[in-house]
Amino acid sequence: MIGVFDSGVGGLTVARALSEAVPGVTLLYLGDTARVPYGSKSADTVARYSRMAARFLTDRGVEMLVVACNTASAYALEALKAELPIPVLGVIEPGARAAAAATRSGQIGVIGTLGTVRSRAYERAIGAVNPALGVTAHACPLLVPLAEEGWIGDDPIAAQVVRRYLEELRARAADLDVLVLGCTHYPLLRPLIGRIAAEIFGRPITLIDSADAIATAVKQARRPTPDAGASRLQCYVTDEARIGEIGERFFGRSLGTVERVDL
Ligand code: DGL
Repeated sequence: MIGVFDSGVGGLTVARALSEAVPGVTLLYLGDTARVPYGSKSADTVARYSRMAARFLTDRGVEMLVVACNTASAYALEALKAELPIPVLGVIEPGARAAAAATRSGQIGVIGTLGTVRSRAYERAIGAVNPALGVTAHACPLLVPLAEEGWIGDDPIAAQVVRRYLEELRARAADLDVLVLGCTHYPLLRPLIGRIAAEIFGRPITLIDSADAIATAVKQARRPTPDAGASRLQCYVTDEARIGEIGERFFGRSLGTVERVDL
């Protein structure tokens, strides 16, 4: 049983990648939908909420905890690792390693929430892999509501917003060849971000999806289970208002029964 928590529905992209990469796994997913977004909140608040979410899942006996939220990974991972008796994995380190391995120019871009960018967590994680690499992080707060509204694919307004953010990033780091999607919601916008990045930078930009990177890391950290069968999801939220409407878009299939809980 693996516990996965996020500030809301976005972490279902991580749950989806985990359920595909780790057959037979039972995922206990907690989305703190009553308090989303974490991306605009202070470090202390994000750390406090993250502890409450982690306690909810450890009380249910999970053997590993995955912090799916980039902002929570940026602000609370070290504390959770120190305080919990089980392995705790965040999304930043696997994404940083994948980005460091992929770059040829030595210049990496990162897009994420305000909190993730302010924390400088990606700069630290990429610097720990290779201090010679350059990292430019850029906050793209409007991409979270766009993904939740389903304004993805070829939506012209989403395209305009992505273009503006990537032009700002290009003005700061014209030589980057790798871009980390450092937020749970961005995999939904991946085709659009990839297309516009190629236009703006004038060459294909390698996109690193932190959901795929953490799924590979979890797979490596676990013993393989032969004939494990299908994975299962048990989904908990702290507010149920929009989960039925948007949860499936993030998970890629039905969530089954969703239980509302108090932390
Ligand atoms: N889950 C958050 C992240 O990956 C995005 C949504 C929020 O701001 O809470 O940083």
